[in-house]
Amino acid sequence: MGVYIRSIGAYVPENRVTNDDLTKLVDTSDEWIQSHTGIKARHICAEDEVTSDLAVKAAEQAIERGGIAKDEIDMLVVATASPDYTGFPSTASIVQDKLGLEKAAAFDLVAGCTGFVYGLETGRSLIEGGAFRNVLLIGVETLSRITNWKDRNTCVLFGDGAGAVVLSPSMSEESGIIDSLLGSEGSGAQHLVRRAGGSKEPIKLGSTKEEDLYIQMNGRQVYNFAVRVNTEVITTLLDRHQLTIDGISWIVPHQANIRIIQAAAGRLKIPMEKFFTNIHEYANTSAASIPIALNEMYETDKLQRGDLVLLTGFGAGLSYGGNLLKW
Ligand code: UT7
Repeated sequence: MGVYIRSIGAYVPENRVTNDDLTKLVDTSDEWIQSHTGIKARHICAEDEVTSDLAVKAAEQAIERGGIAKDEIDMLVVATASPDYTGFPSTASIVQDKLGLEKAAAFDLVAGCTGFVYGLETGRSLIEGGAFRNVLLIGVETLSRITNWKDRNTCVLFGDGAGAVVLSPSMSEESGIIDSLLGSEGSGAQHLVRRAGGSKEPIKLGSTKEEDLYIQMNGRQVYNFAVRVNTEVITTLLDRHQLTIDGISWIVPHQANIRIIQAAAGRLKIPMEKFFTNIHEYANTSAASIPIALNEMYETDKLQRGDLVLLTGFGAGLSYGGNLLKW
């Protein structure tokens, strides 16, 4: 028995913020942002929208498209770095209640922008192990809530959104998750960090530094790491299965920076046309970026059942990984 992506859904907030809009907040320009990242816009949630709301909207679409009854879903995994609450309760528990998944266990998965890639392998293992039948996996972020809107080094990069998939047992060879590669380089943890709010630096009124409440990043270090691991993940997954790039229909990378994707493509001599990108419209939505991309591909008929697809992710941790699957 294998495990396949039975259905997919996504949701991005209506509020579209352009690069020009950001020039009113920080000293930046549309030209700098586009030339350094490929980003033209991002979608930012409304004041009354929270992470679980975005997750529910994406999940409802995936559940409906999957033609699955809610009581058939017995596990819910929410990959996020921007939960409704810090620590507990899990956002997954909130989503489980809002969706009315009465038979589902629920937990959050924290692997930064690699969360969806980790989640696919987690879901596959849970089903193949026999303890669970159908897993709802959601990658969701409201990074706008933990972004320092005074820091031009980071605030131009991120966006909000959600993507969801239903994972089910696959009885045919036609589609399924074939293999995954998951890794971590914790020695780089400080390169992408939100310092305050945990046991190391509890928030203390009056003494917590404002910037420590938000995402802080050494962009260059993360960039170099990202190009290296993207290249390694693609090469390793192809080699393990004696595949060449010609056999792959699409590479769907985490959408963090178009230059990271171009650099990896250049090193591997893979044409950019093999990579699906939509970073120009959504910016970096962390754990949501790959399912949002897959959903757009699904809705525009770019994915056919049986297509070989490679997903690659990297992010806070520093974590990285990839999945090889037949759509
Ligand atoms: O999902 C994983 C999370 N993160 C990432 O994947 C990010 C990885 N890193 C990157 O994508 C890139 O390193 C950045 C886009 C963050 C930065 O691009 P860069 O080409 O590495 O620029 P830089 O950090 O070397 O900065 C170049 C200059 C600096 O000015 P000085 O010191 O040379 O005068 C920055 O202050 O660009 C300046 N700068 C900006 N200028 C205008 C940085 N941000 C901005 C901005 N607008 N928004």
